[in-house]
Amino acid sequence: MKKFIAFEGIDGSGKSTQLRLLSGSLKKIKENFIITREPGGTETSEEIRKILINDNGLKLLPNTELLLFYASRHEHVAKVIIPNLKKRLVLCDRFFFSTFCYQIIGAGGSRNLLNYLHKNFAFNLMPDITIVLDVDPNKAIQRSLNDKKIETKFELKTKRFHKKVSAGFRKLSSHKKVKIINGDREIDIVHKNIIDLLNKNKFIKKKIPYYFKND
Ligand code: TMP
Repeated sequence: MKKFIAFEGIDGSGKSTQLRLLSGSLKKIKENFIITREPGGTETSEEIRKILINDNGLKLLPNTELLLFYASRHEHVAKVIIPNLKKRLVLCDRFFFSTFCYQIIGAGGSRNLLNYLHKNFAFNLMPDITIVLDVDPNKAIQRSLNDKKIETKFELKTKRFHKKVSAGFRKLSSHKKVKIINGDREIDIVHKNIIDLLNKNKFIKKKIPYYFKND
């Protein structure tokens, strides 16, 4: 099996930008990889994503929300992540720890239910490494709202909610396979720190180069 890398962080933490830069680095060394995302990554999961994150007025019960995240993840893990891991590196924008931080830490859902769902509907698959971009929640949410214009349901939640989610991500530092990177620094510095981290852990066989705008 090839390696599975997840990127995590609150809305506006710069995950997409960093994934784009890392993808530039991997292309330079002709590494075989895919980038996918959650909720999403398959046709059905992208449809479920719309129900889950659009500000559509659907007032989902917390467990309905959790079950939909897992319907989406079940499809994604079974049809995309596991088959691809047999051949190539998989980079995923959000995975298990987003559910843990948003639905359990932030919204107070059941940890036992999450563990049950993950074991039974996601093959208990965990990333080989999870990179958390840690940013100031006040700045990040504003940046996210400015960037996308369309507000998603989660971005519209209270500051208190985002602070809880952010603290949840920070606490993941005790996990061996979770690395926290300061995402409040300049984009290029954050990128270098991510590359250095992956190289230090000899994450893939080849040395990964930095990728800059003019490369
Ligand atoms: P994105 O904009 O980074 O793609 O994330 C979509 C939103 O979905 C984001 O606000 C976080 C939320 N989310 C959860 O609440 N739980 C989850 O398990 C996942 C994967 C995302």
